[in-house]
Amino acid sequence: MNDFEHLNPAPLALAGEAATLALGARLAGALDAPLVVWLCGDLGAGKTTLVRGVLRGLGFVGKVKSPTYTLVELYATSRLTFHHFDFYRFTHPEEFAEAGLDEYFAANAVCCAEWPEKALPYIPAPDLRIDLEIAGAARVARLSAGSERGAQCLKKIIPPTG
Ligand SMILES: Nc1ncnc2c1ncn2[C@@H]1O[C@H](COP(=O)(O)OP(=O)(O)OP(=O)(O)O)[C@@H](O)[C@H]1O
Ligand SMILES: [Mg+2]
Repeated sequence: MNDFEHLNPAPLALAGEAATLALGARLAGALDAPLVVWLCGDLGAGKTTLVRGVLRGLGFVGKVKSPTYTLVELYATSRLTFHHFDFYRFTHPEEFAEAGLDEYFAANAVCCAEWPEKALPYIPAPDLRIDLEIAGAARVARLSAGSERGAQCLKKIIPPTG
């Protein structure tokens, strides 16, 4: 069934906003389209900040806005197409199809979604899942792969242990 390598990287402590941006920048170098990334975590956990770090890492210099109201923000960087979603305001998951979002996910892009659970069961399963947790004034990130493509991506950013 799941014939990809199950990696279980240690949680990453992110002491401040700069650490979240730095993780995003590291991630930027490991992402390859097509890829579905779920960004999970409470309000204010740092999901948009992480995406900002990724886009900076991809060389995007403009403003990175939260797609809370627009649902999706599209970026074309020199290396790849990046779609940033935020489903927080969904009142029902059928809005995913109603808004025609399948098309964005079918494109050869990196699709990064905040609040993916609000679009279940319509949102495609993640290649890579990132859980951000609020830990006092800091944050903790947990990364896990959901496919071989996701595992390949994780391997590039998590140093091998042992
Ligand atoms: N590692 C960190 N330590 C402390 N604060 C952080 C860290 N990473 C991000 N922040 C701060 O957390 C706040 C919320 O970040 P952000 O908007 O990225 O959260 P979010 O998860 O996207 O929230 P929402 O669910 O509302 O979209 C920002 O002020 C950001 O600077
Ligand atoms: Mg956000």
